[in-house]
Amino acid sequence: MDSRSWMPLVPEPPEHRLPAALAARDPLGGRDIGWVTQMRPFVRQFSRPGDTVFDPFAGAGTTLLAAQLEGRTALGCEVDTARVALIGERFAQLQLPAPRVMATSCDRSDDTALPPFALCLTNVPYFGCRWPGADTPDQLYASDSYAAHLDGLRAVFHRVSQRLPDGGFCVAMVQNLRLDGRMLPLAFDLARILGSLFELQEERLIVYERMPQALEAFDTHTDRSHEYALIARKQRSPVDLPATAALLESLRAAGHRFTLFGSFARWLDEPAGVTPADADLRVQADEATLGVLLADLHRRGFSLQSWGDAVPLPLRLAPYRGRHYFRAERIDREGARVRLDLCYE
Ligand SMILES: C[S@@+](CC[C@H](N)C(=O)[O-])C[C@H]1O[C@@H](n2cnc3c(N)ncnc32)[C@H](O)[C@@H]1O
Repeated sequence: MDSRSWMPLVPEPPEHRLPAALAARDPLGGRDIGWVTQMRPFVRQFSRPGDTVFDPFAGAGTTLLAAQLEGRTALGCEVDTARVALIGERFAQLQLPAPRVMATSCDRSDDTALPPFALCLTNVPYFGCRWPGADTPDQLYASDSYAAHLDGLRAVFHRVSQRLPDGGFCVAMVQNLRLDGRMLPLAFDLARILGSLFELQEERLIVYERMPQALEAFDTHTDRSHEYALIARKQRSPVDLPATAALLESLRAAGHRFTLFGSFARWLDEPAGVTPADADLRVQADEATLGVLLADLHRRGFSLQSWGDAVPLPLRLAPYRGRHYFRAERIDREGARVRLDLCYE
């Protein structure tokens, strides 16, 4: 992989294409299936030979095939059982050992069922593709609403973040969509979700060659011949320690009540220890206390999020019950970051 931020899609060699007979039996005719050539450079760049590569949306097993061809162990989840069977047939026809694919959404599997892996590499399910296949529970192709689709993606990547080792990469391929004449920013929304679970590192544009067409004046339609590879890593870069300590003092002086715990509290006791990536505050779980604190942080330049969603003010706590914490983050113009997790449950 070179340093270009865009990559032309290299044509798939015929032996690695999804065989026509298998595509013909697939509900989408394999139209949502990626290319092995698209995945192999990412397998090489972000894992080592012998590592396990996990695809939480295994589809027809293209990522799994790329992983195996690169000498990695392939592991997948795929909710559509017909597609799980299709993966088996695809590998059998190539005379390759069948990869392990679980017919479940990974957020449903406990640690005994889902072994750890070194790299998560995937193409996420699109929204609004009118999935004609089985209506399996957790099938994100059948999401009723865009919000439910994003929640489902978040649940899957949250599970990925639990099983990925520190320093491991999560690479997700995704396109913004056009639905009912409007652009739906799936790639940008997914970036926001990944950014709340991992450290976003980079984006790469994957570009495929299509014959351009002339457009009428004011027509906005492009041929959408690109997608994003969003590259995230499980690592938490340290916060700006003096700025965080000064903020906490200033919040206390302003009358806010909270208890400091976790890594920042430990670091205050033992500054030679592990550098914290955030400060955890326990705050009373009532709307008034939290609402005043969040409003003050907002005035001080913090963005407020709950599981990657922006939190509007004034605060209504009811929709956030069960979500455990709000995240408040400020990045100044030097790039220095202060991050608080306000735990209320
Ligand atoms: C874009 S396709 C993946 C294609 C795959 N990368 C390939 O090239 O072979 C997305 C897949 O995710 C599956 N899917 C949807 N929701 C899921 C979930 N919650 N857990 C696991 N798989 C899911 C769909 O059935 C579909 O096969």
